[in-house]
Amino acid sequence: MSSNLNRRDWLKSGLLASAGLTIGQTNPVNAAPALTQGSFDVYAERELELAHEAMLAAAPQIKARLSSNENPWGPSTAAIKAISDTAPKSFLYAGPVTMELRKAIAEMNGVSPDQVLLGAGSSELLMASLLMAGAKGKVMMAETCYISGRDAREDGATMPTIKVPLTKDYQYDLDAMATRLSADTSLIYICNPNNPTGVMLPSAKLSSFCDAASPKSTVLVDEAYIDYAPTPATDSMVEHVRKGQNVLILRTLSKLHGFAGLRIGYALGQPSTLKELRKYCSGGFTVSTTSAAAAIASFKDKAFQEMVLKNTAESKKFLYDTLKSMDYTYLPSSANFVLFPIKVKGQVLLQKMMAEGVSVRSWFFDQQDWCRVSIGTMDEMKAFKEAFAKSVS
Ligand SMILES: Cc1ncc(COP(=O)(O)O)c(C=O)c1O
Repeated sequence: MSSNLNRRDWLKSGLLASAGLTIGQTNPVNAAPALTQGSFDVYAERELELAHEAMLAAAPQIKARLSSNENPWGPSTAAIKAISDTAPKSFLYAGPVTMELRKAIAEMNGVSPDQVLLGAGSSELLMASLLMAGAKGKVMMAETCYISGRDAREDGATMPTIKVPLTKDYQYDLDAMATRLSADTSLIYICNPNNPTGVMLPSAKLSSFCDAASPKSTVLVDEAYIDYAPTPATDSMVEHVRKGQNVLILRTLSKLHGFAGLRIGYALGQPSTLKELRKYCSGGFTVSTTSAAAAIASFKDKAFQEMVLKNTAESKKFLYDTLKSMDYTYLPSSANFVLFPIKVKGQVLLQKMMAEGVSVRSWFFDQQDWCRVSIGTMDEMKAFKEAFAKSVS
């Protein structure tokens, strides 16, 4: 059973029914045209996310929302001040402030502004990248990664994706990916650190892969969690963009900066790639004045970022200790979530946890069920501990 089926089954369970939803329910964003048979379904993950949000909204009492890798310490007070300062100017389109944000991002990353494309979160840019790649060929990805559920079409159509299993230690199998690379591979998706595993690739290995693969296919490195990596500046693959290679980096402010509800993401890539990508998204037009101003302020607030990393490390250690004390193993994580194997069916655990007011996620891969817990405040981690102890007893 694939991870996606696992999530689908769960979403179709009673919890979802109590939210009054069914998979595939019409909603305004679903007005987008369906991809033709034989293409992967880039809309699947969004449907699942929307359904998950609806379920949370309908849940009677949430004590700890540990299911979407949000950052409970954000946004920073500087970002909130920037929002209130710019709110009166919101009758104007956001052009000047988004240009300022692009320049700031370009400077921070040692690239030029025409190598930066903004989006309302990186989801918009990820979807655009997949649409762009799907129009040209196949997308290669790990069997277990953030977008691996996107080909979950219920019509059973064959998808032009190439899925490569993770290695025994749950890393991307770059050697196998290099072997499977062919002329019709238009995009290789690497999520680093990976979601849902939290596992990171050694930077030198990924860097060599970018060098070797980028002349043959676009290499998209999704760096949503790179800020939690040990040395983000050198763990990032942005150097390959600077070198002019066919590498596309996606970043989001939803994690370290606590902007999940403010919606800011960006792509770093070659101007020609970004020009093509703009055909499949808003080209930065979805970014609001308030969110862009908040992003500029948040980037400058280093003390806030350090506080988030420190608190995340503390809560993560508490979670590791909790799991160890209960005789559970886990994958050491380079992100703001932890994945661990569980001894019951994922959907059973999720339902029990929800009944205790704690939301988590589950996956099925490597022939076992796993639970993913996002890192929250210490109070939220204590709520997790209590709910988990009850749910597995
Ligand atoms: C790996 C990865 N990429 C992209 C995203 C999308 O983030 P957003 O659209 O909030 O920027 C997420 C969200 O959780 C993620 O985990």
